[in-house]
Amino acid sequence: MATKSQASIFMVFTATLLVAINGDPQVPCYFIFGDSLMDNGNNNHLHTNAKVNYEPYGIDFPDGPTGRFSNGRNVADVIAQLLGFESFIQPFATARSDDIVKGVNYASGGAGIREESGQHLGERISFDNQIKNHRITILRLIFLVGRGSLVATKKYLHKCMYTVGMGNNDYINNYFAPEYYNTSSLYSPEEFALLLVEQYSQQLQALYAYGARKFGIFAAGYSGCTPGMMAIYGMNSCVDSVNSAIILFNTHLNTILNELNTKYPDAKFIYIDAPLQYPTDLNVTDKPCCEVESIDGKGNCSPDHIPCSNRQNYVFWDSFHPTERVSVIDGTQAYTTLSPLYASEAISSLVDNEEGHFSNA
Ligand SMILES: *[C@@H]1O[C@H](CO)[C@@H](O)[C@H](O)[C@H]1NC(C)=O
Ligand SMILES: *[C@@H]1O[C@H](CO)[C@@H](O)[C@H](O)[C@H]1NC(C)=O
Repeated sequence: MATKSQASIFMVFTATLLVAINGDPQVPCYFIFGDSLMDNGNNNHLHTNAKVNYEPYGIDFPDGPTGRFSNGRNVADVIAQLLGFESFIQPFATARSDDIVKGVNYASGGAGIREESGQHLGERISFDNQIKNHRITILRLIFLVGRGSLVATKKYLHKCMYTVGMGNNDYINNYFAPEYYNTSSLYSPEEFALLLVEQYSQQLQALYAYGARKFGIFAAGYSGCTPGMMAIYGMNSCVDSVNSAIILFNTHLNTILNELNTKYPDAKFIYIDAPLQYPTDLNVTDKPCCEVESIDGKGNCSPDHIPCSNRQNYVFWDSFHPTERVSVIDGTQAYTTLSPLYASEAISSLVDNEEGHFSNA
């Protein structure tokens, strides 16, 4: 039972949420680039194994299965909510004119920095093609927000949040899938990390040229600890060789983001790391909540099987993707990390209210 003070804390918290929901978002628009960790339906119409618009995916999501690789929201959804958007950022595949003014989600399951990454899974929208899709959006925005002027449109884009999370498939579905790809015989982990990061840097600069200024770039996840990778390697603990290759990538990524910050003083590139610690009751770390079809490189939930009921205790929803609870924790930390991109501007109502500064209370 709640005590009196707990009840009043709850009321203040509720009031804070209402203010945040009714106010304008902290940035006018949010563009999302990434892979299955961010995809919210772009793969639904593609010929690919990296497609999950069926039950039990979305079991905790209001609209059911949408193509999100989760039981509920993904990290981008959580960031959009915390930024104050009233609805989720729509997928490029189905976004309408009204939607794209607030941003677009281009993310695609199986996609990588490199064009070939994930190709054995089927069709996917590589980062290069996500950038091409962004160009299509900009051509539409010229008439929706720019009154026919590209300069005015770019001014609008300067204010938008951009998050990018790529690299996971360049490891899981390329470098560490030697039966389909020869990168691991051509390059050492160090060489491959440098090659990837160099290409990534060019791609981010292409977005800059299109008008992006506020960047949040996610570190690659430690996929050596996913149930999928552990099964492929026949291990019941994290696969160190996979994680150490990814640490090289993240280290070089951090370096190039610093270089980009120096090169482009009118932009900000923020590196988003994963939280160091999760709550102790998030204690099932080595197996997925749903029943998976097969472990050989895919690991999607079997259609229509009933998943675990104690989802709040599970880190992994399927063999490679986190539960909504993990995404809420990661997304909340990412939102805080990104604060230099929004806090200096607009009303920042959420931040102010969290600190208890009600201006006309
Ligand atoms: C590596 O694989 C690619 C495509 O699968 C192929 O075009 C290329 O020739 C291969 N390179 C080597 C050195 O085997
Ligand atoms: C995980 O935490 C929950 C809640 O604290 C507890 O009931 C459960 O027994 C724990 N499970 C494991 C495997 O430690």
